[in-house]
Amino acid sequence: MITKELLQTFKDKNDLACLIEEQRDSGSILFVLKNLGYLPKGFNGDFLIPLLSHEHHQIRLWSVKNVAKLKDNTFFIYLSKMLDSETNTSVKREVVSAIGRMRNPENKEILYKILQDKDPKIVCQAIRALLVFEKDKELERKLKPLVNHPNEMVRTVIYKEFFSVKDNSQKGHMAHTQTYDFLKNVVVNGDVIDVLKYVPNESIHLTFTSPPYYNARDYSIYPSYQAYLDFLEAVFKEVHRITKEGRFLIVNTSPIIIPRISRSHSSKRYPIPFDLHQYIVKNGWEFIDDIIWKKPDYSVKNRIGGFMQHRKPLMYKPNAVTEYLMVYRKSTTKLIDWNIRSYNKECTEESRVGEGYEKTNVWEIDPCFDKVHSAVFPVELCKRVIQYYSFKDDLVFDPFAGSGTVGKTAKALKRKFFLTEKEPTYFEYMKTKAKPNLLEENRTKFLTLQEFINYILP
Ligand SMILES: C[S@@+](CC[C@H](N)C(=O)[O-])C[C@H]1O[C@@H](n2cnc3c(N)ncnc32)[C@H](O)[C@@H]1O
Repeated sequence: MITKELLQTFKDKNDLACLIEEQRDSGSILFVLKNLGYLPKGFNGDFLIPLLSHEHHQIRLWSVKNVAKLKDNTFFIYLSKMLDSETNTSVKREVVSAIGRMRNPENKEILYKILQDKDPKIVCQAIRALLVFEKDKELERKLKPLVNHPNEMVRTVIYKEFFSVKDNSQKGHMAHTQTYDFLKNVVVNGDVIDVLKYVPNESIHLTFTSPPYYNARDYSIYPSYQAYLDFLEAVFKEVHRITKEGRFLIVNTSPIIIPRISRSHSSKRYPIPFDLHQYIVKNGWEFIDDIIWKKPDYSVKNRIGGFMQHRKPLMYKPNAVTEYLMVYRKSTTKLIDWNIRSYNKECTEESRVGEGYEKTNVWEIDPCFDKVHSAVFPVELCKRVIQYYSFKDDLVFDPFAGSGTVGKTAKALKRKFFLTEKEPTYFEYMKTKAKPNLLEENRTKFLTLQEFINYILP
C-alpha cells in the first residue's frame, strides 16, 4: 500500500513516473496526486503529461492542479489541447486557471478565445487570468464589452474593473465610520417618507425594521396590497440612498392572513416577504441571507384545530411559528473586508461578537408582548442583528420604530440610533420609556417633523 512516507521518498528522488507506473488502480494514483504538496521550481512534472488524458476525470483534475503549481509554460501545449477536448467543466475551469497562473503574455490569445465559452465560471477564470497583465488598449477592447454579458457575475467583475468609481473620498463623503451628529439618538414623530427627505445620503450604517403588516393590525390601513407594496418600495429605496456603501438592511416580515368577511367567503393569505423581496432587490439591494425566527408552538395562534378534529385532506393549516429576517446589503463592488478595514483596531476589537453566537439561520426566540404596542421585537432578536451587522458607535436606523426596541437595544450595545414613528401614541410611549441619561451627549431627542427640520437646517 502506498503511504505518504513512500510518496515523499519518490518525490525526493524526482522519480514519481516510476511510482505512478506501479499503481494499478485510480484510487492510488489519486492519492499520489492529492498528496504531492509543494512542487519547487524546476521540479520534473513530466509524469503528469499522460495523466492529463486519463479516463478518470478526478485524475485529470488533480493532474492539472499539480501542473498549475509548476507555473511552467512548457505545459501550455498540453493544457491548450485539453481546452478543445475536455468535457468535464470542473477540469476545464482548472485548465484555464493553470494557464492563468503561468502569467505568460503569449497565452493571452487563448484566454481571449476562452471569453466566448458558454460556462460563465470559465469566462470569469479567463478574466481573472487576463487581469494580471497590464490593462493595455487591446485588453480593454476585449474585456470592456463583457459589461453587457448575459451573466451577472461576469458583468459585476467587468464593472468593478473598468467602470466603477475607485475612491469614495473623491465624492466628498464623510468617512465610512462617521455620521452626522444631528441623527444620533434621535426619534422623529412623522411619516418615514417625509422625514427621510431631510436625511443626507450615506449616513446610516444599519437598518433593522419590521414594517406594518399590511392591513392585519389597526395601526396601518392601505387601499390595496399593491399600494402597500408600493409604499414599502418607496421606503426601502430611500433607505438605500441614506445607507452607507456596502452596509446592511434587515427586514422582518411574515406572511399574514386577512380574516374572511363572512362564513361564505375565505380568508386571504399574503406572502409579504416573498412579494416584497422583488421590490427591494430591484432598488439596489443585494440579497444576502434569509434568517428564520422560530417561536415556540404555544405562543402562536392555533390554526390546526379544525384539521385535528376531522383530518380531511385540503383542510390542513399548520400553525405558523416562523417569521423571516431577510438580509440585504447595499450593492457595491467593494468586499465586506473593505467595510471592516474602515474601523480602527480598537473599535473592531470592542465590536467583536462574543461566545454563544447563533450558528444557523434558524433562530429560536420567544416573542415579546407589550401592554401598549401589539407587535414589538424581542430584545434578543434586536441584540443579535445589531451585534452581527454593526460596529460600536455605528448609527442604527428603524423607520417603523413602534415601541423603540431597536433604539433601546442599540443604545445598550453602545451604538447610536435614529428612529421614525408615525403614530403619536407610540411616539409618546417611547418618551415614557426613555430613561434620562446622565451623559448629556447620549440623551435622546424626541422631535416632531418640524422640530427635526429646524434642528438640522439652522
Ligand atoms: C410592526 S410595528 C414595529 C414594532 C417595533 N419593531 C417594536 O419593536 O416596537 C410597525 C410600526 O410602524 C409604524 N408605521 C406605520 N406606517 C408608518 C410610516 N409611514 N412612517 C413611520 N412609521 C410608520 C406603526 O405605527 C407601527 O408602530
